[in-house]
Amino acid sequence: MTKFEELHKLKDLMEKDDTLPLKKGANKLVFGSGNTEAKILLIGEGPGFNEDAQGLPFVGQAGKLLDKLLELAGLERRKVFITNIVHHRPPNNRDPIPNEIESYGKYLDQIIKIISPKIIITLGRFSMAKFLPNIYISDVHGKKFEINWSGQKLIVVPMYHPAASLRNGKILEAEKQDFINLGKVLKSVK
Ligand code: URA
Repeated sequence: MTKFEELHKLKDLMEKDDTLPLKKGANKLVFGSGNTEAKILLIGEGPGFNEDAQGLPFVGQAGKLLDKLLELAGLERRKVFITNIVHHRPPNNRDPIPNEIESYGKYLDQIIKIISPKIIITLGRFSMAKFLPNIYISDVHGKKFEINWSGQKLIVVPMYHPAASLRNGKILEAEKQDFINLGKVLKSVK
């Protein structure tokens, strides 16, 4: 089976899973989108209003900013795969809670296994905490971490969430610089 086929199979399973805690209040599952052969996986927090309506990640204002940030790193959406920590919209866009992160995490682990990326870019503190627990994003944003994930070596680069940059000009400037630096990291990894 190709990665594309494996991901489709997983998406079908997820769509049928009525135990997923945020499913009831959501319109669509936001499984993820992009290049299934990507070496770079981006993980956000959870779907917002627009993502919930379209079933696709980062299609609202934060997504438009993300496209510009990717460009600063010399990347395009069609070269990466994008998913989230939770795949249904939390009510009123509240933060996901631990049992929700755990429930969706079983599927996210499968997505990571299938894509098998070389680099994971986390967007915001919730996805950062999956790989780099007990640290503050303000201390480590834009830095490159080499971790061991299920027996595989993996590079994780924690970035601020683009929605935080939309709210705060200082964070936006830091995030722009982090994505410019990411371009250099990517060249050294290729
Ligand atoms: N914010 C996220 O974290 N994920 C999305 O898909 C959209 C906005």
